[in-house]
Amino acid sequence: MIDITGEGGRRRTFAVISHPDAGKSTMTEALALHASAITQAGAVHGKAGRRGVTSDWMEIERSRGISITSAALRFDYRGHVFNLVDTPGHADFSEDTYRVLAAVDCAVMLIDAAKGMEPQTMKLFQVCRHRRIPVITFVNKWDRPGRDALGLLDEIEDRTGLRPTPVTWPIGAAGHFLGVIDRPAGRAVAYERTPGGATKALTRELTDEQARAELGDDWSRAGEEVALLSAIGADHDQKTFEAHESTPVLFGAALSNFGVARLLDAMVELAPPPAPRADVNGVGRPLDAPFSGLVFKVQANMDRAHRDRIAFVRVCSGRFERGMVLTHAATGRPFATKYAQSVFGQDRTTLDEAYPGDVVGLVNAGALRPGDTLFEGPAVTFPPIPSFAPEHFAVARVRDSGKSKQFRRGIDQLDAEGVIQVLRSDLRGDQAPVLAAVGPMQFEVVQHRMAAEFGAEIGLDRLDYTLARRTDAASAPALDRERGCEVLTRAGDQALLALFTDQWRMRTIARDQPGLTLEPLIADT
Ligand code: G4P
Repeated sequence: MIDITGEGGRRRTFAVISHPDAGKSTMTEALALHASAITQAGAVHGKAGRRGVTSDWMEIERSRGISITSAALRFDYRGHVFNLVDTPGHADFSEDTYRVLAAVDCAVMLIDAAKGMEPQTMKLFQVCRHRRIPVITFVNKWDRPGRDALGLLDEIEDRTGLRPTPVTWPIGAAGHFLGVIDRPAGRAVAYERTPGGATKALTRELTDEQARAELGDDWSRAGEEVALLSAIGADHDQKTFEAHESTPVLFGAALSNFGVARLLDAMVELAPPPAPRADVNGVGRPLDAPFSGLVFKVQANMDRAHRDRIAFVRVCSGRFERGMVLTHAATGRPFATKYAQSVFGQDRTTLDEAYPGDVVGLVNAGALRPGDTLFEGPAVTFPPIPSFAPEHFAVARVRDSGKSKQFRRGIDQLDAEGVIQVLRSDLRGDQAPVLAAVGPMQFEVVQHRMAAEFGAEIGLDRLDYTLARRTDAASAPALDRERGCEVLTRAGDQALLALFTDQWRMRTIARDQPGLTLEPLIADT
């Protein structure tokens, strides 16, 4: 008998949330270096037509010649199976970036020691907050000049509302990195730089005498600060961490691999394993129930000749076995994984089994959408993944008016797939919907697919709105009368969204008419 609950308990499924340049790629490599038996759950790799939709990880593969993935990196560490789910950022920051957080049980918030909390980190953090995903913070680049450690803790607390509880504490200011005090272990660990970070960092545990002799005043100062942390109760507390109220903090330098193994240890010890996922009725499906999984990302192959789609599924319960026939909850239709290949790395080797927490890539998954449920046995539907706050808006028009039917069909299809949000109003009419995106790259994808798959070339007129708020029917007429504001209905969930040119406009309107309903959307900062 396979112990499915036990297998689930060995999983740690997480994402790294950070701002571009904080060191996510470097950290990913460093994690891979520390782990054994690396496999990659990835999609079919970059074809010419897929310009612009490459993930950061594909970028790493190309530039550094190591093989990582486009969706999930899987590795073993200390008898545990880690699934690191990619949050594409940089140029391809899009709604997908947020959606993948539906697949994880924990997030590592990676912060640049010199820059602190940056905008993209905050946006991703908002999604973690919404989903109540526990967050472990890693302050990176401590080998370079940066902020003061206590100041950083204040900033983390102010911006996130989480109480920082350092697990390790730096010896030496940023740029003068001598080591850390490992608080649970109660000892100092010296930082030994390895050139280029090409190998695992040499960590050397020091006795108090050695630390005093080798690290001198910096060690004493760090000791005083640690005493202060204990005095103010900044100690790890598993309950508040899991309740998304506190965040363990580690200090390190991904480039020289310092602190990376400690992060993995913290993940093993603190990060929650998969738990029963609640269905639409709020009832948790036990890990050892028959198979169920959540589709969290669908990657369309942009190449005309290869129209297959790959759906990435997070296993929520049961055992996935290649060849099993599942039910697609949205349509009630069977989904045969016999024909669907689970893809690992560039060679498309197959995955034969997976357990709760694992990520499976299914090809030929044209019918699957992000947020869909697949199951075996008793029916289950997980709650849909919500739409996130768009920041880029454009009116779409078909170039050839003879193609208006294809235009309508294509827009509806891309909306249903979650490629873009579609907003409509009576004023603008059906032939001029407003497309709303989290990242501008989503527009390119829509343009490409409308022409390639639906035969409807479109033109896009960018609108100068930059933010949206949820409103209601009672507030809509007053908002529509304002300059720099427009109310539209989001096709996906029929939500009324008020678009504003800028924060200032929105605040002025809200101040002048305090009775109006204007609620932030998820990931609004
Ligand atoms: P990202 O994926 O979050 O965008 O960041 P990435 O890992 O590409 O890192 C951004 C830059 O920061 C890189 O330098 C990388 O080497 C550097 N970096 C990452 N972690 C550390 C660290 O712990 N210490 C120091 N000192 N630097 C770090 P780059 O010059 O932009 O690129 P490269 O030419 O070094 O690859």
